[in-house]
Amino acid sequence: MRAVYVTSFEMPCRLEVWNDALKPDIDDNKKVLVKVHAAGVNSIDKGIATGQFNRLHINPPFIPGLDAAGIVEVAGGDVTKFKPGDRVYIFSRKMGSFAEYVSVEEDEVRHLPGNVSFQQGAVLATPYLTAYRAIVHRGKAQRGETILIHGASGSVGLACCQIARTLGLRVIGTASTREGENLVRENGADSVFNHKTPEHVTQVLDATGGKGVDLIVETTTSLNFEGDVKMSAANGRILVIGRGPGHLQTPLAGLMPKELDVKGVGLITATKAELEEAFDFIEHNVKTGSLVPLVGRQYRMEEASLAVQSLGKSNGILGKQILNICQG
Ligand SMILES: NC(=O)c1ccc[n+]([C@@H]2O[C@H](COP(=O)([O-])OP(=O)(O)OC[C@H]3O[C@@H](n4cnc5c(N)ncnc54)[C@H](OP(=O)(O)O)[C@@H]3O)[C@@H](O)[C@H]2O)c1
Repeated sequence: MRAVYVTSFEMPCRLEVWNDALKPDIDDNKKVLVKVHAAGVNSIDKGIATGQFNRLHINPPFIPGLDAAGIVEVAGGDVTKFKPGDRVYIFSRKMGSFAEYVSVEEDEVRHLPGNVSFQQGAVLATPYLTAYRAIVHRGKAQRGETILIHGASGSVGLACCQIARTLGLRVIGTASTREGENLVRENGADSVFNHKTPEHVTQVLDATGGKGVDLIVETTTSLNFEGDVKMSAANGRILVIGRGPGHLQTPLAGLMPKELDVKGVGLITATKAELEEAFDFIEHNVKTGSLVPLVGRQYRMEEASLAVQSLGKSNGILGKQILNICQG
């Protein structure tokens, strides 16, 4: 089969397409073999491909990729929920989705709602699960609260906007381009400001009548934390999903007067039950049309390096980058 491989940990990452990769087997009866139509390209794939994030302690060569959508080719004898021909999307703990076929555990597979394409399905796992984990599990958001989503035009940011709107929150977003601002507004934000200008701090405070926001989803903590403390309402929660460049310089004394909570968000830490709950919420709301996964730039397998390298650059990201793998 054809597959994209990490052959060495390099910066910037360099991925290769192999035309003679071994097609995986369902080496036990609980596994499902999926023919991949499209794979989502996530920031974490960049960390994995460059050796920055090696939680599986895996060495090259290996096939990266956590998210994908496609069709079940083979279901093991003990698999109860899936059969060959089912349209599915996956969230693979052991990676391997940047390939024509991937073998995954049954609990890593979900039925793809009928109203979305394979490309949209490839956007559903990591971005929406992270957004749900931040807003619901960690943020404990309540209807009527106000949330600021920093980096709202990115893939996690757009998922956050849609989920927050669905939950009845008032949404404020940030983006650095006019197209990004428009997209964030179309996806649920009442107001959108530019995170590249320091004025966004006073703009957010003005938009909340000086009270500040109850929750902040923060993608670029090292650059924005000082402003986040200023923009937070009393008892606000700052949800850290991304680190940003360099180190945090901000003194923490600002947290005390407003009794702010700073919470880390780690999708990797979610339990199976929490993931199940998040998947159920996502699928229900995709079916009703409240959540609409947005596909950004689409790449061919040969362009995988380009797709992964483009992540994390502030370039007016619009939706999620995907790799198109098998056609038809
Ligand atoms: N903790 C977890 O479990 C978890 C899971 C998934 C992802 N993440 C992290 O979440 C972050 C976002 O991932 P993603 O996939 O959404 O990335 P993405 O699609 O590349 O989007 C990045 C976003 O960040 C924005 N941005 C750039 N500079 C910014 C700044 N100074 N302040 C605020 N926003 C800024 C970009 O906007 P412009 O292009 O308009 O500047 C863009 O909207 C990454 O750091 C990723 O590692 C964490």
